[in-house]
Amino acid sequence: MNADNRTEQHTAVVGLQWGDEGKGKVVDLLTARHDVIVRYNGGANAGHTVMVGEERYALHLIPSGILYSDKVCVIANGVVVDPQVLIEEIDSLRARGVEVADNLRISDRAHVVMPYHKEHDAALESVLSNRVGGESEDLSIGTTRRGIGPAYADKVHRSTAIRMGDLLDVNRLHRHLRVICAIRSAELAALGVTAPPLDPDDLASRYSALGQRLATHITDTVYLLHDYLSEGRSILFEGANACLLDIDHGTYPYVTSSNCSTLGIPAGTGLPGSWIRRVVGTMKAYSTRVGAGPFPTEQDNETGLRIRDRGNEYGTTTGRPRRCGWLDLVAVRYSAMICGVTGLACMLLDVLSGFDELRLCTHYRRADGSVTDRFVPDAEGLSRMTPVYETLPGWSQEIDDASDRSALPANARRYLDRIEEVVGVPVEIVSVGPERTQTLVEV
Ligand code: IMP
Repeated sequence: MNADNRTEQHTAVVGLQWGDEGKGKVVDLLTARHDVIVRYNGGANAGHTVMVGEERYALHLIPSGILYSDKVCVIANGVVVDPQVLIEEIDSLRARGVEVADNLRISDRAHVVMPYHKEHDAALESVLSNRVGGESEDLSIGTTRRGIGPAYADKVHRSTAIRMGDLLDVNRLHRHLRVICAIRSAELAALGVTAPPLDPDDLASRYSALGQRLATHITDTVYLLHDYLSEGRSILFEGANACLLDIDHGTYPYVTSSNCSTLGIPAGTGLPGSWIRRVVGTMKAYSTRVGAGPFPTEQDNETGLRIRDRGNEYGTTTGRPRRCGWLDLVAVRYSAMICGVTGLACMLLDVLSGFDELRLCTHYRRADGSVTDRFVPDAEGLSRMTPVYETLPGWSQEIDDASDRSALPANARRYLDRIEEVVGVPVEIVSVGPERTQTLVEV
């Protein structure tokens, strides 16, 4: 295909804050216009909740496109796959009548999250939170304990990694695990884990059995995706986690272990980024964060509790209460820049109904009193920033039955207009409730 003929048919959906922006709903909305839905990063640390009528689906690894019978879902090479979680997800979808067959393709090069990765994740977090690093410092990240960091670490270590394709060759898997288990057992013991040493025979037989169950889905997804492009099929890239959790561009070290901005798409799929012309940046009308790390606009007070309560701000994956605060547009503008966002989806606007006044952070004040509109993608530096707010009038009425943007109260429209002005990107989608129908689409 000629490069100039690359249409705007391929779309990426990415979170612009610290995750949980409601990407699942945006992906679900855009799925109808695409043929193939691709996950390119992260693992079972992500969680999407999609409502279809009265049915609620919570998905961690499989793209929500699986709920449409005519779409293909691809878990590409950049994802770390916990085969146990994946099989549970497949089984629970099938039990509810959702077909999972040729419509799910998994990269043979995606790395496997093994049980010792999860043990390592939890043990390391616990050691770090026990303040071994100093008298008062808690150095834990607040991970989801899904083994994400250790699995990506093994990918980079190379010699101790296991990929999905490896699960299909039991002898090779067994040979590898004999060495890996000896190393990991020693490491886990050093982290204070008292369990018996890892058993390579048991792990090899259990994980090759899981591989066999997934065998028909495992393939070379790089050629597969290029074949789809040649056939003119349109692709939707579904980002997991979010830009401010990106390993290179987020609030390091309080980030996840993959490139979850759109910059992760080329490496995580094998498709050059030039194919993607439309990037929908998903943001909440306020800010939330789970786990540790700086959060300049956090409201650890009545306002934060009210947002948490109205927005039901508890993690899909871990159930943890989320930290809540005012909308940080310095952060959103930065993420929109990193991700090449062409349109915004502003989610959960209905949660802000009933506040007399709303605050928007447009700048940060540094310790020396100077003001900047630039984000600080470093935890230490960001923790020294104080938010500079604009105050906007709120609206009292509920907006969950608004049918389009013009039907919103004037102050809600003004709030959206100000977001567009500060970020410099149009708001294309506004969500005013969990249902598919409670979505105001401008394009
Ligand atoms: P990990 O990805 O489990 O290693 O966790 C690293 C950090 O990213 C922690 O602060 C997690 O709470 C956060 N995190 C990872 N995935 C998500 C997500 O999908 N939503 C929100 N936070 C996440």
